[in-house]
Amino acid sequence: MIRRPIVEFAGLGVAVPDRVVTNADFEKTLETSDQWIVERTGIRERRVAGPEQTVAMLSRDASLLALAAAGLGPEDIHGIILGTASPDRLLPSTACDLQALLGAKNAFAFDVAAACPGFLFALNVAEGLVAAGQGENMLIIGAEKLSTISDPTDRSTAILFGDGAGAAIVRKATGGSGAVLSTYMKSDGRLADLLYRPGGGAVDPISDKVVAERSHFIKMAGREVFKSAVKTMAEACDKALERAGITADQVDMLVPHQANLRIIEATAKHAEIPLKKVMINVDRYGNTSSASIPLALDQGIKEGRIQPGMTLLLVTFGGGFTWASAVVKW
Ligand code: ACO
Repeated sequence: MIRRPIVEFAGLGVAVPDRVVTNADFEKTLETSDQWIVERTGIRERRVAGPEQTVAMLSRDASLLALAAAGLGPEDIHGIILGTASPDRLLPSTACDLQALLGAKNAFAFDVAAACPGFLFALNVAEGLVAAGQGENMLIIGAEKLSTISDPTDRSTAILFGDGAGAAIVRKATGGSGAVLSTYMKSDGRLADLLYRPGGGAVDPISDKVVAERSHFIKMAGREVFKSAVKTMAEACDKALERAGITADQVDMLVPHQANLRIIEATAKHAEIPLKKVMINVDRYGNTSSASIPLALDQGIKEGRIQPGMTLLLVTFGGGFTWASAVVKW
């Protein structure tokens, strides 16, 4: 029997690009409307990074804030675990580029490829590594530049995604705040082709054909993804609560993956958590994949809706399919 908490959150930071792209901007290039996008997704605007701003740079900006909040410096980090679906390069990991930018010379660094649950998969991994004695201070990040992997000519996906980064210091539990009371992660690879990038990898390396077919961009069967998302988010809620030994009425704030307002509402309904106890910022940032949970957490803290001592339920799903959750005593 494992005794928790093994780890606790010690600092959080986020970074988003300055440029705002509104639904009205998409009306100029795609056959779509603000009304359609708001009704079907809840999204009003998202942030988009320029060519000069990499995933590693967004991660660095978020990480420096997280380090400052934890009162640590880059050399205090023992491990860097970065969740992303849009790495800067296919080799090496974006985590290694981040390590170099930070000067975190005492750390190991690697990426986690788990799509939107990247941040919570990184949390699961960090917890396991701390338990295994691989270090005490882990830097976990969820960071994306999805604008570079979504097809600007495909109205069914282009409007959904945004760029951003969130980072947290997860340290060996000291009995302080931020205690991670439970973690859960799961996948179903049979559903991979419902949300994927068919080309550009080792199966179909980048070529004129790949580019002409636009198969290096995200392809998604939206309706099927929607149905699976509702199902897996519900299961993830149940598992994290069960593992923490608590019930939904003890949750002070649900912090769900921000993919679609209707998925968030269905998740809250399943968990019987009223919407006033749910963090929602999909309207401002769209779906930022692995950055989504830390961006919502950070907003909750800044708005004073998330306070020390609150019980938080974090829950997410994404391409793979993958899904994950955690209960944290903030
Ligand atoms: N503007 C106007 N019309 C559109 C748009 C658009 N941007 N996109 C699609 N449509 C049209 C479709 O072509 C279709 O037209 P048709 O009836 O003439 O064929 C119609 O709208 C309905 O399309 P659906 O796909 O059935 O619409 P739905 O209500 O399912 O909403 C959506 C689409 C928003 C994509 C929804 O299915 C969804 O949110 N799915 C989940 C997506 C998601 O969360 N993905 C992220 C996963 S996380 C990760 O790992 C990255």
